Amino acid sequence: MKPKFYLTTPLYYVNDVPHIGHAYTTIAADVLARYKRTKGFEVFFLTGTDEHGQKVFRTAEKEGRNPHEFVDEIVVRFKNAWDKLNISYSDFIRTTDIDHTYVVQAVFEKLLAKGLIYKGEYQGLYCVHDEAYWSENQMPQDLEGRFLCPDCGRPVDLLKEDTYFFKLSAFQEKLLKYYKENPKFIQPSSRHNETVNFVKQGLRDLSITRTAFPWGIPVPSDLRHVVYVWFDALLNYISALDYPDGELFKKYWPADVHIMGKEIVRFHAVIWPAILMALEIDMPKKVFGHGWWTVDGKKMSKSVGNVVDPIALSEQYGVDAFRYFILREVPFGIDGDFSMQSFINRFNADLANDLGNLLSRSLTMIEKYFGGVVPEKPISEEDELSKELVSLIKATPQKVDESLNNLAFSDALENIWSLVITSNAYIEKQTPWALAKQNNTEQLAYVLNNLYEVLKVAAILVNPFMPDTAQNIWRQLNLPHDPAQNTDELLGIKIAGTIVKKGGSLFPRLAK
Ligand code: ME8
Ligand code: MG
Repeated sequence: MKPKFYLTTPLYYVNDVPHIGHAYTTIAADVLARYKRTKGFEVFFLTGTDEHGQKVFRTAEKEGRNPHEFVDEIVVRFKNAWDKLNISYSDFIRTTDIDHTYVVQAVFEKLLAKGLIYKGEYQGLYCVHDEAYWSENQMPQDLEGRFLCPDCGRPVDLLKEDTYFFKLSAFQEKLLKYYKENPKFIQPSSRHNETVNFVKQGLRDLSITRTAFPWGIPVPSDLRHVVYVWFDALLNYISALDYPDGELFKKYWPADVHIMGKEIVRFHAVIWPAILMALEIDMPKKVFGHGWWTVDGKKMSKSVGNVVDPIALSEQYGVDAFRYFILREVPFGIDGDFSMQSFINRFNADLANDLGNLLSRSLTMIEKYFGGVVPEKPISEEDELSKELVSLIKATPQKVDESLNNLAFSDALENIWSLVITSNAYIEKQTPWALAKQNNTEQLAYVLNNLYEVLKVAAILVNPFMPDTAQNIWRQLNLPHDPAQNTDELLGIKIAGTIVKKGGSLFPRLAK
């Protein structure tokens, strides 16, 4: 039986159209999903949209729209964006889906019956932008004495409502014990430490229903209340698998990794595990909070007008270049800054020069010196330089595997590029053109066979990051099968005797 792999992105709020921040998480998840498939896993890759709550309701109201119509329209924008960015999700869940609604209602009633949800009154502060409750001691104040959201800095609302509470406080010690016994549960480790400190400060019971607006899932036993948007949205990770009895749930739960931005780790590493404990369901294996993108050194915002549209960028420069850049530029887990100049620099240096040139030079030489047929390796012993390259070719897939299993996307790409760059240097050192002049066909055969093998391995390894580019390289190499098939099988394909089919340049250089 194939091993399984279940991974998720956050469900994005539909008050906004997709930008590079959303694309970042979703592309990272897609790369991991594609990689795991090529390693023989049965992958379930879930993404979707978070459609309820006060923030979405207010945005719809502001635009004079019925929230149903409004969300239906924005969802299309997300789906189109993911199609354009080649996102291979298994399922796109909307929190307005009827099946999801039923699961949320069933969970609510179950925990109510268990006494883990109880009725009371909430009086306190709420940030609509982040859909988050805060207590006064967590918040800074502005000059007028207003409390500000510690995450987004916006003034918060004062709420006084009848509500149902989830007994989050009852899970404080269990959570701390869980973090201690599973130190790799929350990653990177800085996020682990933040979470532990947060929980140690004490957990209060969480208000999980609202009565001030109607845009949410109704509580079946008390229809005046709608379920708090985070309690609703987190449950998507199991409702999408048809919890509690579905085949998908049996097969894929627990999640192997929930991927998200660092600002919502708290919800995924505290509230979500507590809900799962309350339901007596297994914990997800990993919660990964990546860093945040700024643009030209500033926080992205509509009012600053610096929101980067991933679709426009991909249409202009190619989807693969964008997918490459966003995962190569900044280590996953660390904050990064986007600028057009850094994008163009990487495009020209890494894609056009390093990878693009390696392909075109190597194939040109195979055509020129061997009539387009990949030469067999001679049987005499290879020179030291070639031996080094061969061992790097062999070692690289393993290094990429380790990196990707740690969600170290930029490391994985660095490892692939280290092979590509070494191969370009290998050409300079071997000077095939001089070998040809000297009629040293034997040495020339080593060199070009090795270069072709590098390109084969590079196509296989870049495939999860740049699926179209991998196909393009593969077509030019003219190898059988498909670079998205099982990696271990593809790595074994014999290359000698293949007739290459050089095509156009992979990444034509951009003007600076
Ligand atoms: O939080 N840099 O949705 P959301 C990097 N609905 N990543 C960014 C980013 C940036 N500048 N901006 C957004 C929600 N992201 C909830 C989630 S899950 C059950 C509910 C990405 O629309 C990043 O993944 O505010 C972040 O966590 C997510 O978008 C927030 O999306
Ligand atoms: Mg947000």
